[in-house]
Amino acid sequence: MEYQVTIKEILSRVIRVESPTAKAAEDKVMQLYRNEEIVLDYSDLSFFDIYADKIKEGIKPYYRSASHDFTLLNGDCLDLLPQFNFHFDMIFADPPYFLSNDGISVQAGKIVSVNKGEWDRGGSPEQIDEFNRKWISLCRDKLKENGTIWISGTYHNIFSVANCLTELGFKILNVITWAKTNPPPNISCRYFTYSTEFIIWARKSAKKPHQFNYEQMKQLNDDKQMTDVWRLPAIAPWEKTCGKHPTQKPLALLTRIILASTDKNAWVLDPFAGSSTTGIAANLVGRRFLGIEREREFAEISRKRREEIEDTNTYHNYRRKIKDIDKSEGLMPSLFASEDEPIIDLPF
Ligand SMILES: C[S@@+](CC[C@H](N)C(=O)[O-])C[C@H]1O[C@@H](n2cnc3c(N)ncnc32)[C@H](O)[C@@H]1O
Repeated sequence: MEYQVTIKEILSRVIRVESPTAKAAEDKVMQLYRNEEIVLDYSDLSFFDIYADKIKEGIKPYYRSASHDFTLLNGDCLDLLPQFNFHFDMIFADPPYFLSNDGISVQAGKIVSVNKGEWDRGGSPEQIDEFNRKWISLCRDKLKENGTIWISGTYHNIFSVANCLTELGFKILNVITWAKTNPPPNISCRYFTYSTEFIIWARKSAKKPHQFNYEQMKQLNDDKQMTDVWRLPAIAPWEKTCGKHPTQKPLALLTRIILASTDKNAWVLDPFAGSSTTGIAANLVGRRFLGIEREREFAEISRKRREEIEDTNTYHNYRRKIKDIDKSEGLMPSLFASEDEPIIDLPF
C-alpha cells in the first residue's frame, strides 16, 4: 500500500524590543527576521501535526479512442479533477441546471415531466452556490493561464455561475444567448415561451490575453461581426442515433464554441460530459477531448458516439451537416488539424 504523508509545523518565538510605537516594534523585528538575525528553529516549535492518506489508485479511462484524441472517465468530476495534473486550452461545462422540480413540458406533441434525473434536482440557493464554487474552482486549476471556460445554463443556475466565476478571479468575456429556432411550446400559457439558454464565456486571467478566432467568426457570419445572439435549432434526430441523453446539446452549438476559442489540436475538457457532444464536436474539428461523466449509461452513449465517427462516411456526413464546419473548411483550412502534429497526451 502507498501512503501520502503530510507534515505541518508552526514555529513561533516571542522577542522583546525597545520602541516608541507598536508598529515601529513590529517593523524592527521584521527587519531583523528578514536579515536572518532571527532564525526560528526546532526549539521554537509550537504546533506539530502529521497524517497519512492512502493514495488513490491511478485513473483508468472508461474509454479511449485509438488515436487518443477522445478520453472519457466514468466518475464524479469533484473526485477525479484533483487526482491529475494537466492544463487544458479550453473547458466547456454544461452542469446540472437544477430545473428538475416535478413540472411538465411538451416534447414531440406529448406532455412529459421536466425531470432530467436525480443529478439535476435543486438544493437551496446556498447549496447551489457551494456546488458551483467547488467545481469551477477545480476547473480553474486545470486551465492554462491563457485558457477560457464556457458554461451553459438557464436562469436557474446562470446567476450563481456568473457570481462564482467573478469571485474566483475569472474575467467574463461574453454571455452568449442561444436563441432556439424551434422551442417547445409553453403549455401553461401563463408565461412567455422559454426559447433561450445562456452560455457564459470567461477567461482565467484578467491580464493574460485569450484566444478568439475573430476573423473566422466574422466570415461565418457573411463578413459581418458575429454578435452574442446565436440562432441555432435544438438537437436534431440524426444526433441521437446512439441513444438519448435528456439534456443533450446540439453539435452545431459546441462546434461554434470550439472553433471560436481554440486552435487545431487544442485540448478541451468537459467535466459534465453527458453524451459527450463536446468531445464529438472537438474531434470533428481536430481538437482533443477529456470528458468526465458520472452515469455509466451516459458514458456508454458517449463511447458509441465516438465509435460512430470512426466510420469515415459518418464522419464526413456529420461535418457536412454542421454549417460552421462546412462553411469554414474551405475558407480557413488552417483551423483544422493536420495528421502529423506531435501528440501531448494526458498523464493517464
Ligand atoms: C446537463 S448534462 C450534460 C449534457 C451534455 N452537454 C450533452 O450534450 O450530452 C450534465 C451531466 O453531468 C452529469 N453529472 C452530474 N453531476 C456530475 C458530477 N459531479 N461529475 C460528473 N458528471 C456529473 C450528469 O449525469 C449529466 O449527464
